[in-house]
Formats: sequence, structure tokens, C-alpha cells
Amino acid sequence: MKNVCVITGGGSGMGLAAAKYMPKEKRIILSGRTVKKLEHAVAELEELGYEAYAHACDTSDRASVHALAEYASSLGEIKNVINAAGMSPAMASPKQLLRVNALGTVYVNQEFSGCMHPGSVIVDVSSNSAYVLPKFLISKKTYLLAETDEEQFLKKLLKKSNLPKGEYERAGFAYAMSKNFVVWYAAKCAFDYGKKGIRVVSLSPGLIATDMGNLEAKEGGDLIHYAAEERMGTPEELGFAIATAADERNGYLAGVDILCDGGSTNGKKEFKRMIAK
Ligand SMILES: NC(=O)c1ccc[n+]([C@@H]2O[C@H](COP(=O)([O-])OP(=O)(O)OC[C@H]3O[C@@H](n4cnc5c(N)ncnc54)[C@H](OP(=O)(O)O)[C@@H]3O)[C@@H](O)[C@H]2O)c1
Repeated sequence: MKNVCVITGGGSGMGLAAAKYMPKEKRIILSGRTVKKLEHAVAELEELGYEAYAHACDTSDRASVHALAEYASSLGEIKNVINAAGMSPAMASPKQLLRVNALGTVYVNQEFSGCMHPGSVIVDVSSNSAYVLPKFLISKKTYLLAETDEEQFLKKLLKKSNLPKGEYERAGFAYAMSKNFVVWYAAKCAFDYGKKGIRVVSLSPGLIATDMGNLEAKEGGDLIHYAAEERMGTPEELGFAIATAADERNGYLAGVDILCDGGSTNGKKEFKRMIAK
């Protein structure tokens, strides 16, 4: 039976870049909402010698994620799931951001873990925005509701994202909360699924020059000045980081977040401040 790697948000950006670092023996399934984009991406992979498939899926819809997991199982043994589907503050309302980024991660982890076997891996892509929130906005009690009462979960997080005045700032808060949740939830899943031999990690990129990153560069670019090399990351750099985190040989990497942001979060917290003095 062939091994299968599923990439949500695989039609572009970091998800597609990660596919290009996967071993060629695997069947690659690229997923997203826009079929045309997926078909182009599949053609690109085929040109490079991959066996690749496109399958439309909206990760904010559990039934759609369930259908993707069933499709992937029909093609072989699911070894790697890279959950790169996501939306950013300039693209969506606070509610959409929470549905896609946060609840989408719950659906992907739950639906796929049900049909994965020992020695498999889930990588949930978060963001270094997960680290910018003041502590009082983060409630693990609210996060637990994501599995038991979605409407309450959304209601409570939306209330907090309404605190800032501007529209972009509200979406920014919702984005940061959705990604803080992803870090927490991936770690929770690592401990929930660990006994079944399914490894889970999250990976938090900084500002990366994908379509999404370029769209956010003006409003969300402040942290770049704190990065060690004071630049955006490239999709290829992040694709490599994500693919290696998803590699079966990285068997002891679980239950943590990999902060792959050129040092910008640490730079802001610590070093640039020291240099400025
Ligand atoms: N670029 C950055 O600076 C940056 C920084 C930190 C974190 N991230 C995170 O990294 C991940 C990848 O983003 P990227 O930068 O590579 O951007 P990208 O090229 O825009 O990729 C995001 C992909 O997600 C898909 N998508 C969006 N909503 C979806 C949904 N509801 N269901 C399924 N697929 C959906 C999009 O395709 P369709 O629209 O066709 O569905 C798109 O292909 C995202 O989770 C993002 O939040 C990005």
C-alpha cells in the first residue's frame, strides 16, 4: 500500500512549498477550496515527478474534512497531514478567521486521527502571532469548548476580538487568538493521540513572502525589524521546515510548537531591546 501525504491549503504558499520537499514515493493530495488553483499546483508537482491529486475541501466544514480523510484513505496509508489551510486578518471577518483557523484545525486533527496509524504525523501550521497576545486574553477553559460547544467557543473568542476599535485590529485579534488556539490544540492532540503512535506538532511561521504574507506585509510587518536578518522568510524556507517536521524520521518531535520566524518573537522580547539601549 502506498503512503499518502495530505496537505490542506496545499494549492499555494507554504503548503505547496512543503509538498516539494516530500519524498517522491508518496502520493500527495493537495487540498483547498479553489479547484483551479489545486489543478495548477498538481500539474507543477507532476512536472517535478510526483504522483499528486487535487481534492477540494473547506476545512471550516467538518463534513468536507471527513470526505477528504475518506478520499485520502482510499489512496493508501495516510502518513503525513500538513494542515496549512488558513486565512489572515486582511482576508476575512473575525468569525471566519476563528472558523477556518481554529475550528478547521479541530476538524482536521479529529477526522484524520481517526484513520491514521502508528508512525504517522500531523503538523498544524500556526503563526508567530500566537505569541503576541496579552495573557488575560488567553483562556484554556474557553479553548476546551472547541471540542464540546463550538457556538460558545466562537461567542467567547469573538467577544474578546471585539475589544480593539478598528476593523483590521479586530481581525488581527481574532487571527492571533485563532493561532494561539492552534498551538495549544496541537499540543493537546499530541498527548491525546500519542499512545496511538500519531505524532502532532504545530509550526509557527513569522512573516513569509507568500500571497498571504505579501498582503499582510504593510499592516503586519512590524515584527520583521526584530528578526535576526531583518527580512521576510521565503515559502521555500518554510516549506522545508514544515516538511522536515512532518518527516517520520523526526519521531521524537511532538507536543511542542516550532517557532520558525527568523527570531523575530525572541528579538522583540529580548535582544533588539538590549541593542537599542
Ligand atoms: N504568510 C505568512 O506571513 C504567514 C505567517 C504566519 C502564519 N501563516 C499561516 O501559514 C498557513 C499557510 O499560509 P500561506 O502564507 O502559505 O498563504 P496562502 O498561499 O494564502 O495559503 C493558504 C491556503 O489555504 C487555503 N485555504 C484558505 N481557507 C481555506 C479553507 N477554509 N479550507 C481549505 N483551504 C483554505 C487557500 O486556498 P483556497 O483559498 O483556494 O481555499 C490557500 O491555498 C496559513 O495557515 C497561515 O495562516 C502565514
